[in-house]
Amino acid sequence: MRILLTGICGFVGSVVARTLREQLAGSEVVGLDNLVRPGSEINRRRLREAGFRLIHGDIRLPSDLEGLPRCDWIIDAAANPSVLAGVDGKTGARQLVEHNLVGTLNLLELARRWNAGFILLGTSRVYSIAALCTIPLVSLPDRFAPDPAATLPGLSAAGVTESFSTTPPLSLYGSAKLASEVMALEYGAAFGFPVFINRCGVMAGAEQFGKADQGIVSFWIRSYAARRPLRYIGFDGRGRQVRDCLHPADVAPLLVSQMRAGQTADLPRIVNVGGGLASSFSLAELSAWCADRFGRHSIDTDLTPRPFDVGWLVLDATLAQTAYGWQPVRTRDAIFTEIADHAVRHPEWLPLSED
Ligand SMILES: NC(=O)c1ccc[n+]([C@@H]2O[C@H](COP(=O)([O-])OP(=O)(O)OC[C@H]3O[C@@H](n4cnc5c(N)ncnc54)[C@H](O)[C@@H]3O)[C@@H](O)[C@H]2O)c1
Repeated sequence: MRILLTGICGFVGSVVARTLREQLAGSEVVGLDNLVRPGSEINRRRLREAGFRLIHGDIRLPSDLEGLPRCDWIIDAAANPSVLAGVDGKTGARQLVEHNLVGTLNLLELARRWNAGFILLGTSRVYSIAALCTIPLVSLPDRFAPDPAATLPGLSAAGVTESFSTTPPLSLYGSAKLASEVMALEYGAAFGFPVFINRCGVMAGAEQFGKADQGIVSFWIRSYAARRPLRYIGFDGRGRQVRDCLHPADVAPLLVSQMRAGQTADLPRIVNVGGGLASSFSLAELSAWCADRFGRHSIDTDLTPRPFDVGWLVLDATLAQTAYGWQPVRTRDAIFTEIADHAVRHPEWLPLSED
């Protein structure tokens, strides 16, 4: 089996490439990347050394895709992954749509031509900001938590499920990804190839190119270790907003199950993929963890609300567990420790990741 993995030189792509190779004996992973993300050239060198076939190309350009070898599966992990993309003054809205939607469309055309399966690395940011903001929260000393009495469509005791509202506004990033989901499912149905959408929550691990707007866990731990300025932004300025986290190596077994399942009927095509409540953390809790590891560092407060921010977003991944027997293995503390160890060994990593 040959797999085209776009965005292979990114954080998720590079980890998934290595893990797939271990878990899918006899498969070949061909990688495509345009190296737009600062730091991705480091992964290109390492992946080359590990024997991966890499092609420098851009998913926005159909001509860059013409000469690719035919593959049985396309895994789309190439994107601008920042929720602030298109409104951050650094990237244009149109550019974001070209990377995250037009690029996907070009890959769907390729899947149609090759009769290949297609897997989208989607995002939890497809869930409605307005609806997420209506989750009633209680304030615990170091984190927000949903009011246990809260009942909201699509919200379970384990978190946000796949049936939660996806009504915009979601962020330009979330909407481009949601539109990609719709088009992927439509192409799969129209042209008869398997499609899977994995709505991933926050992903984290040692070699993430962390920035304030993307790769927050890596950015926070590295900045804390280096005594760089950090701020709790928005809400009550105490860093009580909550996310869950997941290591991308834990995504790979799900991708393997989906590729094995192919067109098997009755399997959900859209699943949440997140670490869930067990891996959830607030920034205040992450700071406490960092203080234990590196000694105390003071955090500033900025009460200006941040666009598209929500107080609590934890994914209920029960559907992926029941349908595919999938379960994350790496715990939250194992992920934090992996990043902290890497930060100590590689203090140069944070500046390398900056624009
Ligand atoms: N990291 C997360 O927390 C997270 C969470 C949910 C979903 N995702 C999704 O996972 C995927 C991978 O994210 P990541 O964290 O590895 O991001 P990343 O920025 O580390 O990697 C993305 C890679 O894609 C490449 N790329 C970007 N635009 C491209 C284009 N037009 N053509 C070819 N290559 C291009 C970049 O150079 C980079 O190497 C994305 O689709 C993202 O939306 C990530």
